[in-house]
Amino acid sequence: MSRSPMIVRTVPALRRAVEDLRARKATIALVPTMGALHDGHVSLVRLAKRRAKRVIVSIFVNPTQFAPSEDFSSYPRTWKADVARLAAENVDAIWNPDVKIMYPDGFATRIVPEGPAIAGLEDRFRPHFFGGVATVVGKLFTQVRPDFAIFGEKDFQQLRVVTRMAGDLDLGVKVIGSRTVRERDGLAMSSRNVYLLPEERRAAPVLYRAMKESAKRLRAGDGFEAAMTGGAELITNAGFALDYFEARHAETLAPISSLKDGPVRILVAAKLGKTRLIDNIGV
Ligand code: PAF
Repeated sequence: MSRSPMIVRTVPALRRAVEDLRARKATIALVPTMGALHDGHVSLVRLAKRRAKRVIVSIFVNPTQFAPSEDFSSYPRTWKADVARLAAENVDAIWNPDVKIMYPDGFATRIVPEGPAIAGLEDRFRPHFFGGVATVVGKLFTQVRPDFAIFGEKDFQQLRVVTRMAGDLDLGVKVIGSRTVRERDGLAMSSRNVYLLPEERRAAPVLYRAMKESAKRLRAGDGFEAAMTGGAELITNAGFALDYFEARHAETLAPISSLKDGPVRILVAAKLGKTRLIDNIGV
């Protein structure tokens, strides 16, 4: 049976909710989201439930991680459906602050992450992004003070950035990565997939196919250059404008040129029409 989660919109109300949920020292897991929830988010919530007694999901479309040219105002917002999904998962509370609550007038403090945040992947194409993510996630962690926080591996560089930040700033939260959930044809689930036109949606699974193909060639001992170029060509031949298709160290995100330098992660970002997709797999 599903039960409606508590919906919280102010910091004092959140503090009271967290205090209640913490009764008898119950552990809390936070799942930070921007809403427009899909099955990938549900899998994060389910992992959170396995890790902690109580689960809080934040829904906040964070303006500071969007550049002026990006889709902040058109980002899909599906509040009613989101609440219904979270109720069906028996989430305890939804933290849904307004922009003015998160960034009150005069807000003047930002977290500027380095290390994995300046690895030359997403940061090269979205230089504003990780500062915005680190600042909002830092605030979410200090507001909720969860024991665990669950992030999807689909945003792999983001996962590395928030993991590093939580450790560096002693935020007392264990960051846990959750496996990417894919459509049947391999496309990674993403709130932005709704932007794809029908013919783009048909082409989109090539990202996953290309990564798998390059990973297979790397494991078979092919040269790094040839294996990665082959994957990149599959993607551009399908009509994508490629931002990057790279093999990196899975922990540090440093460039590598041999499987021996691993663990290895292949990461891709590419634009199809107006939609930019990212994805990654382990080798
Ligand atoms: O991955 C997301 O949905 C967002 O970047 C996050 C972590 C909720 C921060 O706004």
